[in-house]
Amino acid sequence: MRAALLDGYGGAERLRVAEVPDAPPPRRGQVRVRVHAASLNPIDWKVCAGYFRLIPGQRMPMIPGSDCSGVVDAVGDGVAEFKPGDAVFGLISGGVGHTFAQLVTAPAKRFAHKPANVSHHEAASAALVGVTVLEALTRGTRLAAGQRVFVSAGAGGVGSFAVQYARSVGAQVLASAGAANLDFVRGLGAETVFDYATTDCAAQLSDLDVIFDAWGDLDARRYLTCLKPGGVFLTTGSGGRSMEDLATRYGKRWWLFGGLADVLRLRWQARREGRQVAMVFAQPRAEHLQRIARLLESGAVKAQVGQVYALDDIARAFADGQTGHARGKRVIDLGA
Ligand SMILES: NC(=O)c1ccc[n+]([C@@H]2O[C@H](COP(=O)([O-])OP(=O)(O)OC[C@H]3O[C@@H](n4cnc5c(N)ncnc54)[C@H](OP(=O)(O)O)[C@@H]3O)[C@@H](O)[C@H]2O)c1
Repeated sequence: MRAALLDGYGGAERLRVAEVPDAPPPRRGQVRVRVHAASLNPIDWKVCAGYFRLIPGQRMPMIPGSDCSGVVDAVGDGVAEFKPGDAVFGLISGGVGHTFAQLVTAPAKRFAHKPANVSHHEAASAALVGVTVLEALTRGTRLAAGQRVFVSAGAGGVGSFAVQYARSVGAQVLASAGAANLDFVRGLGAETVFDYATTDCAAQLSDLDVIFDAWGDLDARRYLTCLKPGGVFLTTGSGGRSMEDLATRYGKRWWLFGGLADVLRLRWQARREGRQVAMVFAQPRAEHLQRIARLLESGAVKAQVGQVYALDDIARAFADGQTGHARGKRVIDLGA
């Protein structure tokens, strides 16, 4: 099979595309999937840059990638929910799922059936980001109709899913985006959209039930006062200090613990003020994937496929992803 290979930690220049042995036949409880599409997520370039060395499975050369959509090629013993030929999509791991390859073998519970009216590009685009949003807005808090929610980075992979999901449950959605994406985010269902470069959002916002910092670097301390008593601030980051800042202070191997400590301190401060702060972790739960399938099938959420790249262009996709600006998802087409 063909796959992207990372030769060592670094940037896009450490990636190459090569012929490698096929992913192994599935063991008990596993399926092997012929991958049609996999999406590019910031965690992929962060893993490749060496920021998440504690996640297992990183022997070099390594096939990166977290999520995918494709067709079941073989099933292991004990797998009743899928059979060869089924179209599926899934999140293998938040970081090291080896999906930038034409075949991937993984536990069956990491997949759900792909709705027939959703393309492989769309399904791959929705997996990791959809799981992140559901982890935040159904488990971190249970977002409900009539609540006011602010979503940062509303045009990005996570934010574009979050804005639509929040709208679909009947919440009133406010969001931020770059100047070029304001109309795009309004089109996804946000009632008010702030340009993050020219607006101090924290100074504009009040009476919120939920803040979902999909960008990950909002300063939680400043935003706590925008929440109603009992309100919740959820972040994909650490509540203020960027990964790069934390890595400078604690080192590339241990920065995450510094971030966790920051969030614990913020939680304590927020609790004294009658608010909550929590960090979101994309957990590959089957229930989330099944719910994503229903949201996509019904049209409640539309996967926002941005740019599609051939596997041979993966280094360019990584470099584009690292700009930190997006409109929906970047997708790698595996040419199945
Ligand atoms: N904890 C977890 O489990 C988890 C899961 C998923 C993602 N994440 C993290 O969440 C972050 C976002 O992921 P993603 O997939 O949505 O990334 P993405 O698709 O690359 O989008 C990045 C977004 O950030 C926005 N942005 C850039 N500068 C900004 C600023 N100063 N203020 C507000 N927004 C700004 C961009 O807006 P414009 O393009 O409009 O300029 C863009 O929408 C990443 O750091 C990622 O690693 C964490």
